[in-house]
Amino acid sequence: MSSPPSDVSTQPAEAAKSHKLWGGRFGASPTAAFDALNNSIGVDFRLWPYDVRLSKAWAVALWSANVLTLEESNAIESGLDVVSARLDAGEQPLPSDEDVHTLIDRLLHDAVGGVASKLHTGRSRNDQVATATRLWTMDACQRLDAAVRTLQQSMLDQARTIESALMPSYTHMQRAIPVSAAHWLLSHFWPLERDRTRLKAAQRSAAVLPLGSGAVAGCAYPISRVLLQGTLGFDAISPNSIDAVSDRDFIAEVLFTSTMIGIHLSRLAEDLIIYGSSEFGFVQFGEGYTSGSSMMPQKRNPDALELARGSAARMLGNLTALLATLKGLPTSYNKDLQDDKRTLFDATDTLLLVLPAVAGALGECSFRTERMYAALSSTMMATDLADYLVRKGATFREAHGAVGKLVRESESTGLELQALPVESFAAAHVLFGPDVMDALSPVQSVLHREVEGGTGPTAVRAQIDAARSALLPVPTPRSSNAAA
Ligand code: ARG
Repeated sequence: MSSPPSDVSTQPAEAAKSHKLWGGRFGASPTAAFDALNNSIGVDFRLWPYDVRLSKAWAVALWSANVLTLEESNAIESGLDVVSARLDAGEQPLPSDEDVHTLIDRLLHDAVGGVASKLHTGRSRNDQVATATRLWTMDACQRLDAAVRTLQQSMLDQARTIESALMPSYTHMQRAIPVSAAHWLLSHFWPLERDRTRLKAAQRSAAVLPLGSGAVAGCAYPISRVLLQGTLGFDAISPNSIDAVSDRDFIAEVLFTSTMIGIHLSRLAEDLIIYGSSEFGFVQFGEGYTSGSSMMPQKRNPDALELARGSAARMLGNLTALLATLKGLPTSYNKDLQDDKRTLFDATDTLLLVLPAVAGALGECSFRTERMYAALSSTMMATDLADYLVRKGATFREAHGAVGKLVRESESTGLELQALPVESFAAAHVLFGPDVMDALSPVQSVLHREVEGGTGPTAVRAQIDAARSALLPVPTPRSSNAAA
């Protein structure tokens, strides 16, 4: 079995044109077809700020382990600042740069010459890429959290405007029981709140330092991993170098969370799309996030919401691709892992496009509360009618049967429940009295549901307050660590 190329810093003369971190044991250059497959710079270029950061910390760690002199370490650190400034100014990689680590190594050689060759002592791209990806992920979780939060804020703002509006709730897509429209809208708020908890957990999983693990067996120089952890802002140090170079659980967690966010956005989008159809007419879309038809002049299509619904499929695809990759791997680093970043970046990029668009689309929706109210039919108060009988002493089963009869009569006569003659009520159950009409009012129906988490006006007010508190900024784990 052939072994993977080892990470060595000496380069063969012919490889010097295309700067490489390996090649000494090779007699010939790689084929163009191999480079095209193997080079990951097109995907991992965005990791450069993190790779520079960890490289600076590594230069200091090598100095404190007596591998570099203070001058060498300082020279590398300032060289990395030059690299950073060049990349910040828009310098693009060459197609021949194998990956972001190679690119930075090349630019560092440009900046400080031969001393740059000492930086790769005791480290491998295996612990390097894991570290850079974790740092990137820790930041990405915060960006995602902020984007989810903005959507939740837009939802809460809208919920406040429709707090006292009543609309049908649905189960099986069939009219069920009247609810406050805010109660419906906030049913999409709490799933996103759970997603933010998942994002925090994924961020914690990412905050474990792999640097110092080397290629697989641990660094052979006495570098201080505690120092690296502190400098780079990790919460913990990986306890096993073999695991550390191939642990991608944190990416799987981000992808699962992204998938859940995608699913939650998809369900919100689906509700809004259905409620925005002429048949429902509960929602009117704005003009900032919709498009027209090239053929049908009357159309205003909810494209942003449809694209959000569709994007959930991509999230799921990314999660599946990563899990399928991890499943078949032997322990430690294998090159299959290079594609982890495609899934991570695609999911994150997609969500960072979709979330603001959904927040904007929702923010510009106007809710047609009169259409919502008009959709409440008297049969939706059938449960309330049964509860009325229960309050008068009937068992629920008995009450259910009696009201069922009335609903059947209403269906066959085409009359609303409140339009049925008093005799029908009396025939259905002896406990029906003249106050029965109160039980058929949607306002009464909602008033009866003041249980915590219910749709009663006081319960909904409390829910709105709870949602507002959930959005108050809380100290991040990193800043609370710093304070400790
Ligand atoms: N570009 C690689 C990746 O993303 C870096 C690690 C390469 N390691 C190696 N032994 N060739 O996974």
